[in-house]
Amino acid sequence: MEILLYPNPLLRRPVTPVEKFDAQLAEIAREMFGVMYRTRGIGLAAPQVGQAIALLVFNPTGEPTEQDQERVLVNPRLVGKSKSKETAEEGCLSFPGIYGAVTRPVTVVVEAQDLKGERLSLELGDLPARVVQHEMDHLESVLFIDRMAPADRLQNRPLLEELVARWKEENASSQG
Ligand code: CO
Repeated sequence: MEILLYPNPLLRRPVTPVEKFDAQLAEIAREMFGVMYRTRGIGLAAPQVGQAIALLVFNPTGEPTEQDQERVLVNPRLVGKSKSKETAEEGCLSFPGIYGAVTRPVTVVVEAQDLKGERLSLELGDLPARVVQHEMDHLESVLFIDRMAPADRLQNRPLLEELVARWKEENASSQG
């Protein structure tokens, strides 16, 4: 399992809801945590590893030793959000080296299922709320550059173009 980089079109592929809560699903989540920790991330959505399913994992500490902070959300739905918003810098594992300001509600309420299919409801604030909103965006084919402050997107343009050039190069060579 590896992280797909922008502009891989699989990052924009629509996901399907998870219906089977089996050992294979648990294994995908476990592998996603592994990839996330290795790449120093705090959240990861299934489309970023080529899985078109409604699944995300996160751990706001980013530390594999803090296992009790790990959360897996299957089929998450946003059911509430605060009026108050906050702007903060975000990054994304599919956009190495790229950071920019994104404005989001400070707190959210999310309903989801766990790996066994049990329903759960989470009220999140601050960093966990931001991470979950970022990852839920991935499940709806939205990338953080779509929400980035225009000035930051402009500033990141050379890096984005570099990613596009690299992807084209690798794609061309894999086709022989
Ligand atoms: Co991301």
